[in-house]
Amino acid sequence: MQDFKDKVAVITGGSSGVGRSLAFALGAEGANIVVGDVDQAAMAQLRSDLAAQQIEALVEHCDVTSADSLTALADAAEEAFGGIDLVFANAGISAGESGAMWEYSPKDWQWCFNVNLWGVINTISVFMPRLVAANREAHFVVTGSGNGALLVYPDQPIYTASKAAVHAITENLHYQVVAAQSPVKVSALFPGPHVVDTGLFNSGRVRPQELKKAVEGNASGISSVADMKKMAAEWGIELQTTHPDEVAQMALAGLRRDAFWLLETTAETEQKIRDRAQMILDRTTPVANMVGA
Ligand SMILES: NC(=O)c1ccc[n+]([C@@H]2O[C@H](COP(=O)([O-])OP(=O)(O)OC[C@H]3O[C@@H](n4cnc5c(N)ncnc54)[C@H](O)[C@@H]3O)[C@@H](O)[C@H]2O)c1
Repeated sequence: MQDFKDKVAVITGGSSGVGRSLAFALGAEGANIVVGDVDQAAMAQLRSDLAAQQIEALVEHCDVTSADSLTALADAAEEAFGGIDLVFANAGISAGESGAMWEYSPKDWQWCFNVNLWGVINTISVFMPRLVAANREAHFVVTGSGNGALLVYPDQPIYTASKAAVHAITENLHYQVVAAQSPVKVSALFPGPHVVDTGLFNSGRVRPQELKKAVEGNASGISSVADMKKMAAEWGIELQTTHPDEVAQMALAGLRRDAFWLLETTAETEQKIRDRAQMILDRTTPVANMVGA
């Protein structure tokens, strides 16, 4: 897709971080923006910030764990703007797990899988039939994570597992649209190349009441990128970060090339991916990787 002007872009989880940056980047190109999110305060802020930039937008409450909620978002998008050209299945959370996985609350697993995995499945189920039926150029972009899709970092097993599944689904979705000879293109977006400075590490702000744990807060003790930086510094690592606007620009550049991989890496990450492939081929026992190391 060369030109985003007058296109309609639906972004789940678009009121913060990567999704919010996508909304502004696409809006600046003349696209009409539809955001579905559950964070009412951030949504109100987004509405006024988009209006200040004269970006046409619809910002709706939409919980990706509910297919009905996504159907309402799709209907609202079509009613407001007539059709849908780009869908970003982007909403995601980090459950803030830490320590031995056999001691986690099942609620951590449920919440993360509900949003990260079922959110993507529901978004595919609701939006893909509409994109395929329209039978014209369109993009379906899934926000995954290198942590799960490409590497297995040791400290967030729930998140990593959810993103491994998300990537398998995204790659299969790509194979299926190709097999169906649909003009819809599928892309896998990997925010990075460094840890992206977003609200992901404070996801507890949108944790539903029924999935709250007896003990509040993140077991990891990390609730922001600043916390991560501090912890990394204690291990002698200077943690690099990426601004979500850079991720949005990388994504748009990739969409212009119809790229499947919306992925930017560092030399270190590339080496880790190679080492991982080699480890599998050599049947070497895994050794834990560190984020940023
Ligand atoms: N930040 C990173 O370093 C990084 C790295 C790799 C992948 N990602 C992925 O990027 C995506 C965006 O996350 P982010 O980093 O911008 O974090 P973020 O917390 O800033 O944004 C996530 C958004 O999703 C929304 N959300 C949460 N639960 C929802 C639900 N049930 N329904 C609808 N919306 C919901 C939140 O309200 C928030 O606006 C996620 O899929 C995340 O896993 C982030």
